[in-house]
Amino acid sequence: MPRALINLDPAAALADVNRRTFGAFVEHLGRCVYTGLHEPAHPAATPEGFRRDVADLVRELGVTTVRYPGGNFVSGYRWEDGIGPAASRPRRLDLAWHSTEPNEFGLDEFMAWARMADVEPILAVNLGTRGLQEALDLLEYCNVAAGTALSDRRRANGAADPYRVKMWCLGNEMDGPWQIGGMTAHEYGRLAARTARAMRMIDPSLELVACGSSSSAMPTFGRWEREVLAQAYDDVDFVSAHAYYQMHDADLASFAASPVDMDYFIDSVVATCDHVGAALKSRKRIMVSFDEWNVWYTDRAESKPPAGDDWPVAPRLLEDRYCLADAMVVGGLLICLLRHSDRVRSACLAQLVNAIAPIMTEPGGPAWRQTTFHPFALTARWAKGRVLRGSIRSDQCETARFGGVDSVDAVATLDAETRQLALFLTNRSVAEAAEVEVGLAAWPGARVVEAVQISGDPSWTASALDQTWVAPRPLGDQALDGTTLKLRLPPVSWAMARLAL
Ligand code: AHR
Repeated sequence: MPRALINLDPAAALADVNRRTFGAFVEHLGRCVYTGLHEPAHPAATPEGFRRDVADLVRELGVTTVRYPGGNFVSGYRWEDGIGPAASRPRRLDLAWHSTEPNEFGLDEFMAWARMADVEPILAVNLGTRGLQEALDLLEYCNVAAGTALSDRRRANGAADPYRVKMWCLGNEMDGPWQIGGMTAHEYGRLAARTARAMRMIDPSLELVACGSSSSAMPTFGRWEREVLAQAYDDVDFVSAHAYYQMHDADLASFAASPVDMDYFIDSVVATCDHVGAALKSRKRIMVSFDEWNVWYTDRAESKPPAGDDWPVAPRLLEDRYCLADAMVVGGLLICLLRHSDRVRSACLAQLVNAIAPIMTEPGGPAWRQTTFHPFALTARWAKGRVLRGSIRSDQCETARFGGVDSVDAVATLDAETRQLALFLTNRSVAEAAEVEVGLAAWPGARVVEAVQISGDPSWTASALDQTWVAPRPLGDQALDGTTLKLRLPPVSWAMARLAL
């Protein structure tokens, strides 16, 4: 049975828990927007046509930011198509997902929806088919108070106050050959720098994200970041990272250890940023915006876009159904993101509704929670205060993809205000339960308030009819022995323990 010893020291804090770690992503893709966020004919629709049941689940999930409108979609999008009277908006081909975009939902609807769902909007500009001028126009429409052509157009469209969007993505996955208007790192770095400089002439306080790599497996990974930042280091605040994981060839052990790749990815991006910074003799630190991450079964039929003459509106696309092992991996990836809170200052689970999403809907029917909903909701709710730099010594388990990896992974957060400690853990071993001992010598009076687990048949999958089986259950196998918390984690499981100090 694998054993792990964790020691926590309140004096060794890594960084604040950044609320933007719990962001998500909404793209005009499949049914994410249409019959996801927006379905005017649904019984739960607001007067604006937003599904109230979905917004309720978004709040329950604890999402803090939402990146919009893409994704690959943004690289062919004309944002002006989505504003003004709905009846006169054009229908367009969406080349990224071989669909028809009806433009019934656009920028103003998204901003109204974000207000209703209580999330901070993050916008992406189109640097694929468009460029600097379009970015400036969009920024003027959104953030200038009044008295210019585009700000007055926003006001005429019903939004008297500026949206004051702080965070902007300069394009999407511009390193990808699949991206409309994809570029070399040099071309993109120049364009990102020029666009950023011009946007800051309107508002110097914007937070700007340059595109990093679409995955750590991209042949240009590392060189891409170095070249883009060589051009744009002084002009941007973040570089993005995207990663999707899936189980290959029924290899559950390697899949369960997916956060090992995310660790490597983040560490490499940070090293590259700091290398460029050092070469430029800059004291500025570039942060990482992990603005797409999730489990995604890219090879399944669900992910094949329509083809030929078929350009449907909001087809069922990327509607992956997640199993318990997927939930455990999502929980593990969140542990990894939190562990890098000093440099990962923003992250977006991709996506939010229907397309590779924790929330699913049926048109005219219910909205329901996938298995992956639960670890996200619990982490977003209870990871508060400071992330502790704990030490973990764990036995290893073997994986085909990563070799020997720690069986147990964990992160802890300490909320000084409420005097609560939250511990998030996974057992990646596919065969054995793990015995974990957590040293709490710094808090002699600590007591366990809640301990829950997600465990059981790794292949169990939720549906609209049964979303409860995988709901977190009490972790019975835990006890405080003096100042040592002892936990027994089942194989392929995720767990959370909260202590009052
Ligand atoms: O989230 C699905 C797609 O994955 C996004 O459109 C793209 O940015 C990424 O490749």
